[in-house]
Amino acid sequence: MNKVDVLLGLQWGDEGKGKIVDVLTPEYDIIARFQGGPNAGHTLEFDGIKHVLHTIPSGIFRKGTMNVIGNGVVIDPVIFKQEIDNLAQFDLPIKDILLISKKAHLILPTHRLLDAASEKAKGKEKIGSTLKGIGPTYMDKTGRNGLRVGDIFSPNFKEKYNKLVEKHVGILDHHEGFEYDLKSLEPAFFEGIELLRSLSTIDSEQYINAALKEGKTVLAEGAQGTLLDIDFGSYPFVTSSNTVTAGTCTGLGVAPTRIGDVIGIFKAYCTRVGSGPFPTELHDEVGESIRKAGAEFGATTGRPRRCGWIDLPALKYAIMINGASELSMMKSDVLDGFEEIKVCTHYIIDGKKVDYLPFDITDTEIEPVLETIKGWNTDITGLTSMDEAPKELTDYVKYLEDHLEVPITTVSVGPDRTQTLNNKK
Ligand code: GDP
Ligand code: IMO
Ligand code: MG
Repeated sequence: MNKVDVLLGLQWGDEGKGKIVDVLTPEYDIIARFQGGPNAGHTLEFDGIKHVLHTIPSGIFRKGTMNVIGNGVVIDPVIFKQEIDNLAQFDLPIKDILLISKKAHLILPTHRLLDAASEKAKGKEKIGSTLKGIGPTYMDKTGRNGLRVGDIFSPNFKEKYNKLVEKHVGILDHHEGFEYDLKSLEPAFFEGIELLRSLSTIDSEQYINAALKEGKTVLAEGAQGTLLDIDFGSYPFVTSSNTVTAGTCTGLGVAPTRIGDVIGIFKAYCTRVGSGPFPTELHDEVGESIRKAGAEFGATTGRPRRCGWIDLPALKYAIMINGASELSMMKSDVLDGFEEIKVCTHYIIDGKKVDYLPFDITDTEIEPVLETIKGWNTDITGLTSMDEAPKELTDYVKYLEDHLEVPITTVSVGPDRTQTLNNKK
């Protein structure tokens, strides 16, 4: 019986997961999303096309691959329909290549409203959520009130919907001054539901386990990043799902013994979008130049991403939690213009040098200890092999491998599919 390989982000999201899943897809029969929802924005670039996916797995463009939206994902029928509509130009046989778990939960228009109302009520302490209704939908899931994809086939779906909406309206009534027009949001929701009814909905845990038994290969595609995990991230500035390897088990219905390789992906520096602690954040022109060189603006919300140096204590933590067996270093080319690169090796907390993340990363004063590394200071976007890489780049990779104790098997030097260097020894 085969195992499921997992690819996931080790930082605060947007590491480049979509790009690497697309690159790896030819090696897999099935690509499966296991958590998150339209808060994700996964960018793929090939043949001069740039495409952003939110709910649909990043294997969708490669012929011969099946794409699964697992039970752990939350689906907004409105955004989902927009995604499907945007794919029309590629003439893909969606019904044949995209399978949706009947157990995936639905994001209702009122979940989006609740997300907005909650953020407004938090004021300055807001999470900086993507306002896609993620938190309220997972709350209804764990609170045992949610609606699932399979429910849309029930003759009393509308009744179930109305009952949940009534509950939500009751909560929204408590948010004084929060105005909304639910009626204007509902037609698009029901159009999305109609589309979902016309597609292939399945028991995805059965499908994936049967596929593994038949010797098929499966890659699980993470969304967000480890530091946004509901249990292990920088709580409360996190998302509402388990973004880590363990999330694959619950989000697809595969047993822990069925997990194979775990590919952890990280940027050669670090970014974060939304609120919350970020020990290596740069508030100066260096941060600004990384943002500019890396075009660090959110793929889902367009918000500027906060930028800083790579954070080894945080990465080591993420590697430990996920059991990462190999790593991909992304966006290396963004550091092309730097004579010197800095790496955070430790933190100073209460005058003591430590190499772990404290419990309360939000309210603890953390000073990063930075080591300076010589930059390659040359354009690497045209490299086709690590054999041609400047010595400073291979030294940087080696330095990180020594500290992280996991091999970096891929080095990405640009957004295009082809700008991906194999570093397998
Ligand atoms: P994801 O959410 O992890 O899939 O990442 P996003 O798509 O949100 O953000 C990554 C961004 O970086 C996208 O715009 C990608 O096209 C781009 N990208 C990915 N890899 C590289 C790389 O190696 N170099 C550069 N310059 N851009 C990259
Ligand atoms: P991908 O898959 C980066 C962040 C939001 C916010 C917090 C909670 O593209 O890497 P939510 O809407 O989930 O309740 O927001 O999490 N966030 C992401 N940041 N990349 C993402 O996804 C993210 N999804 C959520 O900015 O800080
Ligand atoms: Mg993204």
